[in-house]
Amino acid sequence: MEDHKLKVVLLFGGRSGEHEVSLNSAQSVFKAIDRTRYNVETIGINKQGQWFWGVLPETLIKEGFPPADQTHQVTLVIDPTNPHFMATDGYVLPNNGRFDIVFPVLHGPYGEDGTLQGLLEMANVPYVGSGVLGSSLGMDKDRMKAVFLEKALPQARYLTFLRSDLTSGRETCLNEIEAKIGYPCFVKPANLGSSVGISKAHHREELLEALNVATIFDRKIVVEENINAKEIEVAVLGNDTPKASIPGEVKPAHEFYTYEAKYSNIGSSLLIPAPLDESIIVRLKEMAIEAFRAVEASGLSRVDFFVTTENEIFLNEINTLPGFTEISMYPKLWEASGIPYSELIDNLISLGLERFQDRQNCKISRD
Ligand SMILES: Nc1ncnc2c1ncn2[C@@H]1O[C@H](COP(=O)(O)OP(=O)(O)O)[C@@H](O)[C@H]1O
Ligand SMILES: [Mg+2]
Repeated sequence: MEDHKLKVVLLFGGRSGEHEVSLNSAQSVFKAIDRTRYNVETIGINKQGQWFWGVLPETLIKEGFPPADQTHQVTLVIDPTNPHFMATDGYVLPNNGRFDIVFPVLHGPYGEDGTLQGLLEMANVPYVGSGVLGSSLGMDKDRMKAVFLEKALPQARYLTFLRSDLTSGRETCLNEIEAKIGYPCFVKPANLGSSVGISKAHHREELLEALNVATIFDRKIVVEENINAKEIEVAVLGNDTPKASIPGEVKPAHEFYTYEAKYSNIGSSLLIPAPLDESIIVRLKEMAIEAFRAVEASGLSRVDFFVTTENEIFLNEINTLPGFTEISMYPKLWEASGIPYSELIDNLISLGLERFQDRQNCKISRD
């Protein structure tokens, strides 16, 4: 009987600033996944990017990673004819490290940005969530905005700079920001998440500081006009025919939705459903699906908006691997839309397998 269950490998932790968030998301998935349908194996990735077999998210949250000699470091064998994990110390993994699908419960760089997805593609492995293109477009705020623009989706005014532009022509950049964006403005590293490195600048001095902070984290920086509005989020689920959940509202505990406001205990509150007019809800759901399609996401995404008191809608961003704890917005929105947490996991696994099959049906050469 055991053998008929699908073997799922949960991948969590990782090198990004959202390591801890990932552990919490993974703990919720580990707890809720239906054991009558799945055999679950776990791989924790430490902050150095090393992968360890069989560590549990709950233990990692409490105690951190065990010393390397008390666990088994593993690597994915890049063999498209026989993808499997292998322990570097010779330990024989259950089922020889073979599995049916990987469930990356990772956020941010090296998890959500297409790099991991590329590794899994190279090994010919089914996985949950978006592929390389969708993940990387969803991570790079500058390129994401470019494809949203192509689809005429409304967004805040923005400018993009390279770190080298800021070093060689700082004055010109500052003048351009002041002329085209004005204050207050948001300064963001293009490729992070969880508000890491993001500042709101109210004048030139703060702008300089904000740019300094952002360039610590990325070589590409996005500067945006401030939108004074409610923050509304919509969950999307599916592959080629995605569906959207009801919208929820985030009420940040700070001036904006900072890392602390997102994850500290004083926390920010979620309003589900968001108190909005029916016509706005319909439009938000349509736009969430358009945004999902624009970046070619698959499986899941959370699409975040600003909605002003005059009901003007601005698309802020798409997150292709959103926070996934039981109390996170993404699962909460589906729960309120009729899909309980463990059923959502089932859906995501099926969608991952479906996407894999769909790709297997494409020839990659004329042979
Ligand atoms: N243009 C903007 N106007 C107003 N608030 C913004 C703007 N951009 C970002 N914010 C605030 O900063 C938070 C984080 O920015 P976001 O672009 O969502 O980055 P992240 O990918 O790190 O979540 C948002 O949730 C919001 O509170
Ligand atoms: Mg955000």
